[in-house]
Amino acid sequence: MSDRAVFAWVIDGLNRRLAEPSGDPKQRRVYNALRAWIVSGELMPDMRLPSSRLLARETDMGRNTALGAIDQLVAEGFLVAREGAGVYVTAVGFAGLSDTPNAPTSDRLSQRGRAVLAVSPDDAVTHPAFTLGMPALDRFPEARWRRVVRRHQRPGAQQALHYRTHGGHPDLKAAIADYVRLARGVVCQADQILITHGTQQGLGLVATLLADGGDSAWIEDPGYLGARAAFQAADLRLIPVPVDDDGLDGSAVASAHPAPRLIYTTPSNQYPRGVTLALKRRLALLETARQHEAWIVEDDYDSELRYVSSPLACLQGLAGGAPVIYLGTFSKTLFPALQLGYIVVPRALISRFRRANARLFREEDPALQAALADFMNSGEFAAHIRKMRRCYRRRQAALREALAPATNAGLRLSSGAAGLHLVAYLDSIAQETRLVDEGAAVGVSLARLSTYFIGGRTEPGLVLGYAGADEAEIARPGGWLARAWRASQDDGS
Ligand SMILES: Cc1ncc(COP(=O)(O)O)c(C=O)c1O
Repeated sequence: MSDRAVFAWVIDGLNRRLAEPSGDPKQRRVYNALRAWIVSGELMPDMRLPSSRLLARETDMGRNTALGAIDQLVAEGFLVAREGAGVYVTAVGFAGLSDTPNAPTSDRLSQRGRAVLAVSPDDAVTHPAFTLGMPALDRFPEARWRRVVRRHQRPGAQQALHYRTHGGHPDLKAAIADYVRLARGVVCQADQILITHGTQQGLGLVATLLADGGDSAWIEDPGYLGARAAFQAADLRLIPVPVDDDGLDGSAVASAHPAPRLIYTTPSNQYPRGVTLALKRRLALLETARQHEAWIVEDDYDSELRYVSSPLACLQGLAGGAPVIYLGTFSKTLFPALQLGYIVVPRALISRFRRANARLFREEDPALQAALADFMNSGEFAAHIRKMRRCYRRRQAALREALAPATNAGLRLSSGAAGLHLVAYLDSIAQETRLVDEGAAVGVSLARLSTYFIGGRTEPGLVLGYAGADEAEIARPGGWLARAWRASQDDGS
């Protein structure tokens, strides 16, 4: 194509583009049009472009607008200015860039990625009744919390705006150390605490630092899907350990598998069954970990929400120097979007954890951490927990009452001694499927117990969150479930 023909084509095209309605500035529109024609190959390498003077004369734009767009494309390498000869399309070929036959497709995910996605459902919350892991957001003292946060967000030293590598705000680390020592029996000092974005990040950090790809990790079966995902993302070999009324039973797998590097457990309130790890099992687990030089990963996610006794002492504090990494979170006691948690790490490892955390994940907003420290030190955190215990007792009672027509007829529920959900045990997977499907049809979303199993063995049931909905909101879906369960019993499914 001759220069003249190219000039005419560009001028014509730009006139059409500029006549179209758009909220963008003219220079951006000219830039976008020229760039798109170069990338798509309509303007080929080494084609000469009309000068800015000619463009300004033949289109509805000023010379500076044309110059600005051309200069930008020259700076980005799409055009080259040749001394005294004008501006040309760069010699780099863009052919094929706009259609992307090699763009990654879902088929090309890594195996680890696929395994993680298998336990990462896209669950949209439709109704607070039965939603899992949701605390009473309606009872959170939001206005008070926001005031505390605002107080700590005032401008301060510029240094506070820089990357941080301290393992968390010192006030928050101190407040957490005091709290877990008193409330959970954790043996630690503030310098052993690392603040995280929550348990999920803590699990990733533990897996990265303490295990190699292919190493074995014991994991409760049924168990927390977040732990499964974190360990699968680290390419660990998951060994399902059965859970009975006394918690996970390490003896069931001890001889059958290669030695574990990590042993994940929720001893204070097993997720999802809601049982506690019996003392003799705790001692046996510590012994197993010592024998194999494995680390126990203690996920103590909601043990302060206990209704039948004081919160249980943790595994970490049971014996001096226990090989335990202890993880806690504020997702259940305050609210999940806060995304603040902590790890308690043996002193020999803490600086390595701190450095790796700062490298891999960065540290959390110091103002938010300072606000949380304030919230804890002022006594409001403890007061909120006390209030929530009463609230969750009432909400659990409301769910039990709504389900009474079914429980009186034989539906078995978990003890509900702690936590934010009850498990309803069913007779068959067919019954589980039927209730989940019927629930979906009437807008009640139900979580299947069977999806928490990993080792082939499975049990049918429903995991029913009760904390996120008030008593009135629980009554209707609870009543519906009792009726649906009875109907499914009568039909024998
Ligand atoms: C067993 C268990 N651990 C931890 C968490 C919370 O993790 P995070 O701090 O990442 O929100 C949950 C939330 O549902 C959980 O069920």
